[in-house]
Amino acid sequence: MAPIKWIFSLASLILFTAPALAGFSSSSSTNVAIYWGQNSLGQGTGPNAQQRLSYYCANTEFNIVPIAFLTTISNPTLNFANAGNNCTAITGSSLFYCPQIEQDIQTCQQTYGKSILLSVGGSTYTEGGFSSSALATAAANNIWTIFGPQTSNTSIPRPFGSAVIDGFDFDFESTVSNMIPFGQTLRSLMNTAQSSTGGKPYFLTAAPQCPYPDAADGPMLAGAVYFDAIWIQFYNNYCGLQSYTPSTGTTQNNFNFATWDNWAKTVSLNPNVKVFLGVPGSSTAAGSGYESGSTLGQIIAYSKSFSSFGGVMIWDASQVFANAGFLDSAVGYLGQAPQTTFSTSTVSSTSSAAASTTVTGSGTGTPTTSSAAASSTGPGLVNQWNQCAGQGWTGGTVCKPPYTCVYLSVWYSQCE
Ligand SMILES: *[C@@H]1O[C@H](CO)[C@@H](O)[C@H](O)[C@H]1NC(C)=O
Ligand SMILES: *[C@@H]1O[C@H](CO)[C@@H](O)[C@H](O)[C@H]1NC(C)=O
Repeated sequence: MAPIKWIFSLASLILFTAPALAGFSSSSSTNVAIYWGQNSLGQGTGPNAQQRLSYYCANTEFNIVPIAFLTTISNPTLNFANAGNNCTAITGSSLFYCPQIEQDIQTCQQTYGKSILLSVGGSTYTEGGFSSSALATAAANNIWTIFGPQTSNTSIPRPFGSAVIDGFDFDFESTVSNMIPFGQTLRSLMNTAQSSTGGKPYFLTAAPQCPYPDAADGPMLAGAVYFDAIWIQFYNNYCGLQSYTPSTGTTQNNFNFATWDNWAKTVSLNPNVKVFLGVPGSSTAAGSGYESGSTLGQIIAYSKSFSSFGGVMIWDASQVFANAGFLDSAVGYLGQAPQTTFSTSTVSSTSSAAASTTVTGSGTGTPTTSSAAASSTGPGLVNQWNQCAGQGWTGGTVCKPPYTCVYLSVWYSQCE
């Protein structure tokens, strides 16, 4: 009896101390957004290859998933790296239909309380926006029929079928024109849908680079478009996490969260907009800006001191779930109890079941869209310092040039 009682009370303890994560909250400073879709770690097979969306949603340490990316808008196309291999072409359209993602969006929303956004753009986006405001408005209406609430028109190509996303994320990284009417039209379509369905909220977010004002999203952010949240890319830039100096305390030189907090309060159309600290999920996720351990803890503590702070954004799922302990510690620093029932290390160790499935290359049903990640990392190649061989190893075995796989022990070889 005693042990059963003990287990029972332990279970209820876990149950009652679990943070109530239910999608994006504009009143919370402990939101966690993790991008999914680009398999940016670049593993084609093995436990660290990008898994299907619902696999990650079972983790309770984050509540928002921007799915990356809708890579073109005017003639819409998607790229989900290896997850695209599980989709089938839609006749008469450049889009593909993804039954797993359709099912997983619904599971993520209904079972795991996640907010699912479709991220538009990415670093490979080259359309440059729209040549006129009328084309921008038409594109917003078109995108909404494709990803917003389903209508009776069965000719509309719907990559996610009956699933309805919770909004859009803008990740523009090059010069774009006429984005204000695009953003404003999407926002107004979302507001109309929200009031007609009795309140299901839709969200609009953006991922500017840290230099202020953002070169691409700047005009929209300059009080023109109503955003619920922005997650700043504090990486690959001089103002990234690496520029945070603990010794100067509240006076930071290059690390500019303060500038963005001031934007939120004095420039943003939504004065209650949330500003997230965007971080790389591992040392290979970005060229610069990766911080972990107590340094990350200090940066989160500093950023939390601003009232606009909304939480942390991480690029991306494939990187952070291969970086054991990082998500736990980030969530710990945020002040949200890490879940003992389902940690990042559990995710990695249980994923071997999917390891035998080959997810790169041209399997049957491969859509017309390239299966390669839109990010610069080559699929299947192992990054420097990562494991490439060893007893029981099922991950990638070919190193990214110019590195070679160096034997260290029967258990472990790494690319160097
Ligand atoms: C693709 O489908 C297979 C088979 O259902 C599944 O195991 C795998 O996780 C899927 N991959 C992605 C990246 O969605
Ligand atoms: C249905 O959708 C198709 C494709 O977007 C469009 O061409 C057509 O005009 C729509 N039909 C109606 C009745 O709205």
